Amino acid sequence: VASLPVYKPGKSAEVAMREHALDSAIKLASNENPYDPLPSVVEAIRVAAAGSMHRYADHRATAVREALAKRHGLSVDQIAVGCGSVGLLQQLLLAYADPGDEVLYGWRSFEVYPIYTQTVGATIVAVPNRFEALDMPALLTAITERTRLVLVTSPNNPTGTAISHDELVAVLDAVPEGALVVLDEAYHEYARGSHVPDALGLVRRYPNLAVLRTFSKAYGLAALRVGYLFAHPEVVDAVDRVLVPFTVNGLGQAAALASLQVAAELSERVERTVLERERTVAVLRGLGLSVPDPQANFVWLPAGEAAAALTMKLESMGVVTRPFPGEGVRVTIGTPAENDRFVEALHACIDPLELQAHWLLPTGGGARRVQQYVERIDAARERVVEHSVRAHRGATSPDPQTGEQWDAGQVWAHLAEFGSFWLPQLQLVIDAGSPWPVPFGRTKSDPHRIAAIEAGRAHPVGEHLAAVEYSLDAVRAYVAGLADADWSRVGQHPTLGAMDVSHQLDEFLVGHVEQHLDQLDSLVPS
Ligand SMILES: Cc1ncc(COP(=O)(O)O)c(C=O)c1O
Repeated sequence: VASLPVYKPGKSAEVAMREHALDSAIKLASNENPYDPLPSVVEAIRVAAAGSMHRYADHRATAVREALAKRHGLSVDQIAVGCGSVGLLQQLLLAYADPGDEVLYGWRSFEVYPIYTQTVGATIVAVPNRFEALDMPALLTAITERTRLVLVTSPNNPTGTAISHDELVAVLDAVPEGALVVLDEAYHEYARGSHVPDALGLVRRYPNLAVLRTFSKAYGLAALRVGYLFAHPEVVDAVDRVLVPFTVNGLGQAAALASLQVAAELSERVERTVLERERTVAVLRGLGLSVPDPQANFVWLPAGEAAAALTMKLESMGVVTRPFPGEGVRVTIGTPAENDRFVEALHACIDPLELQAHWLLPTGGGARRVQQYVERIDAARERVVEHSVRAHRGATSPDPQTGEQWDAGQVWAHLAEFGSFWLPQLQLVIDAGSPWPVPFGRTKSDPHRIAAIEAGRAHPVGEHLAAVEYSLDAVRAYVAGLADADWSRVGQHPTLGAMDVSHQLDEFLVGHVEQHLDQLDSLVPS
């Protein structure tokens, strides 16, 4: 026990005010919801407090399980409720991991993982992050016969990045019989990328998947400690066996039930946070400091060796954040006024702390370039959605190289297929880490390309739309995580020759989507 790392909660605004003799301070350190619970939820807590505090609450939180089952289209025996999602995580470790078992996770990630793993005497296998995000290919290769639990946090705390659906499926397929994959989705409601895992769909298919969610973040009930889990009934049974009696308190149960009834109003608040996150990130990149693709209610500042000093300086200006010394600083998205105060304080730190020299992602023009790609991707995504409900007629003008003319079905089929080819090709060039041009790519006569366009031209547009959105969001996330060294890589295309990363993005990914959207524009009857 003496060797366990100690869990460090975020510092409160009051403590920071005292320590720095400030008149006011804001806490952006614990990824909390900046908004109070809705009045109807507060009323439900009041009623519960007035009537029943002398009685034990329902040990199994049955009503909450039933309400969650109804809301998510699962059966009640596929749902467990615990004392926060951390409570359920601890139950999973207790139920599944013995000494000698390996518990695998990416690192840096949620800081309770090593504490819980050591508590049960299991072996930690921590795979270092890459691109300021979980390194899912490396995680896959770290799976062994002794792997018992794989903990995947998406969006990841503290980097804020999400993994893709396909990456999770690869892990689910790779783990040995009897091992469990835990998808920790404490921040799920804030994720907007269409590439993120469809956890509910996967729970229905994979008995070796457990998904953790919580009322603490998007529902704003952090102090009341209610988390939940979706999984196969056998997993639910196992975690229920190690549930501390009555640990899901009565006020929390009442508040969770009331919150589920006002889910629409709560999601409007979540949307506000998401918009604020996107606004804040655009400002940060505009200031010349890039951050990895944020999908949660916080942003990760990859300040490297300047992280501890940055936290202290922000704190002295009344902005309390969460430091990870030597790595970065995690900043929760607050109200618009709080975010403005944070950005202003950060701005004042850039020169004195020489932040650009320590920053682990692109700075200056490099940061602004990332934001330009993100904005182009978002604009392309909107155009794709608009075209998905439009009628198209006729054929495109002849392709200058091949003379090909396509109907809208062929354009859609091509848009839907090329992302899953070109993004891995870009990754191949970057992963090679070579100072010389790396061979990559295909030409227009590639038989797989032609076959995919032919096969896909009659498919429903909805299917194509989902595929295009998936790859655009995967590219959006990938581009945001590239360091300067990654941007400097060069590929060698069979006919177009040497191409740097920007050139590849323009020719084969972002610019490529725009070009085919222009074709769809030309097929809309006037
Ligand atoms: C990744 C992750 N999982 C779980 C939790 C815990 O949430 P809860 O309040 O439900 O225990 C947190 C909270 O910080 C988190 O960051």
